[in-house]
Amino acid sequence: MAGRDEPFCLVIFGASGDLTRRKLMPALWSLYAGRTLPEPFAIVSTARTGMSDDEFRRRSRAGIDEFARIKPPSEQVWDRFASALTYVAGDPADPGLYAKLDATLTRIESARPGPANRLYYCATPPSLYDDIITNLGASGLARPRDGGFTRIVVEKPFGHDYDSALALDRQLAAAFREEQVYRIDHYLGKETVQNLLVLRFANGIFEPLWNRNHVADVQITVAESIGVETRGAYYEEAGALRDMMQNHLLQLLCLIAMEPPVSFEAAPVRDEKNKVMRAIRPIEPGRVRESALRGQYGPGFAEGKPVPGYRQEKGVAPDSRTETYAALRLVVDNWRWAGVPFYLRTGKRLKKRVSEIAIRFHRTPHLIFQRDPAGVEPNTLAIRIQPDEGMALTVAAKTPGPDLKLAPVRLDFRYGEVFGAEPPEAYERLLLDAIHGDATLYARGDWVTQAWRLLAPVLEAWAKDPAVPLHTYEAGSWGPAEAEAFIATDGGAWRTP
Ligand code: NDP
Ligand code: BG6
Repeated sequence: MAGRDEPFCLVIFGASGDLTRRKLMPALWSLYAGRTLPEPFAIVSTARTGMSDDEFRRRSRAGIDEFARIKPPSEQVWDRFASALTYVAGDPADPGLYAKLDATLTRIESARPGPANRLYYCATPPSLYDDIITNLGASGLARPRDGGFTRIVVEKPFGHDYDSALALDRQLAAAFREEQVYRIDHYLGKETVQNLLVLRFANGIFEPLWNRNHVADVQITVAESIGVETRGAYYEEAGALRDMMQNHLLQLLCLIAMEPPVSFEAAPVRDEKNKVMRAIRPIEPGRVRESALRGQYGPGFAEGKPVPGYRQEKGVAPDSRTETYAALRLVVDNWRWAGVPFYLRTGKRLKKRVSEIAIRFHRTPHLIFQRDPAGVEPNTLAIRIQPDEGMALTVAAKTPGPDLKLAPVRLDFRYGEVFGAEPPEAYERLLLDAIHGDATLYARGDWVTQAWRLLAPVLEAWAKDPAVPLHTYEAGSWGPAEAEAFIATDGGAWRTP
């Protein structure tokens, strides 16, 4: 592991893209402005788009102004940060780019003391990872040098399906040792996601209730109000199942369903998550429609303004069959969860941006308040991942007055109110962890391949079976109307978060 004050160079592939603009540069800036980014550092950004260093700096500044947690406080501090940004134009498939990168890195490293620590970041569409990894290996850039570290962060989706994920693993293994590889899933870096384990395992009251005897169902929603924005080309090769479900939502499911690990360290936590993946009942190829539903947004409204449908977005085929909404019904076949449905849904251009996990408990077995049963709902624990981070437990209470009337009330905890300051962005934490060599909050290779194995029948049916419907939903709605019937088959109902 490198020391906290050692120099490092970060090389971002795909640096003209959305991830770099909205997440990576704002996170790096916030770390710098908050004085937690090790120094001296350099950020070498590359993509095919031709740009000068100054143009890239201006572009980054615009993204930081819009998205960073900490806004640039003074031009002086900004100038110091900006001076560490370099842009190298080139195609990641072209071996010539790697010679240019090597020359740039060597120039930066030789101008300062300390080891040559290098972190490569794959922020391109996943179909380009092959080229990047092969070229890093062939050019010798993957090898650690001069006592420094060399690591690679690979963005999700890791591969396109089960076979390609295994192939990507093999390719990584040909150029890097496993401890150099960081498979990122930024949901694992969110404060509220890390808090799931604290909630479950630092509070004695939840564990006795956290099982089939008390839980009726679990609902995981990751809804976005934005469309595909500028990312049509990437999204066309991904779709909601690969973009969100295979990684973010299944990680959330594992954190909710896992057994207590023996300690909060990378290996035991990851082992327990893997056991959940192995316990999820496989989806039968002939019965995909019972477990999965897909949709695609049509034209509609977002924040009161008309917005185009998915097929009218830039970079999207006019007859695209790519899903922008996916819902799954999963069952975890173990003693704790047998018979408890886990409903997962995610989509773009939904009514609002909200990610939450709702644990719905069983109804009271016998109600003594016969006069007002309507006021009694099953207790629900809603964990709000974002925005308005926090959690609420719904309980029944007597409304004041002479009559015995019941109403659901919420015991509510809000991060913002209790802790004040805005929590660090997930990418801040994860970038820092990769620089420091801590992989605890990164996904493990075997978990990733198991997630692909689980979804393989759905991917197959959605790609090849024309009989599986692709439902349309209006932009700005809660998804396809058919999703209601889908969840109702075993008594569930989607919440309105
Ligand atoms: P974009 O499509 O916005 O950007 C991808 C970058 O790759 C661009 O800079 C583009 O640059 C380059 N690129 C695209 N096509 C090619 C090609 N055929 N050959 C060479 N370069 C190409 O994607 P995102 O930034 O949104 O996503 C990148 C990765 O990050 C994806 O794996 C995604 O899953 C992941 N991710 C994205 C998040 C987000 O919020 N955007 C969040 C979490 C993960 P140029 O054309 O200049 O070469
Ligand atoms: C990314 C997906 O992994 O997560 C994007 O590629 C999505 O499509 C993003 O918009 C959502 O992240 P967050 O942190 O805004 O919920």
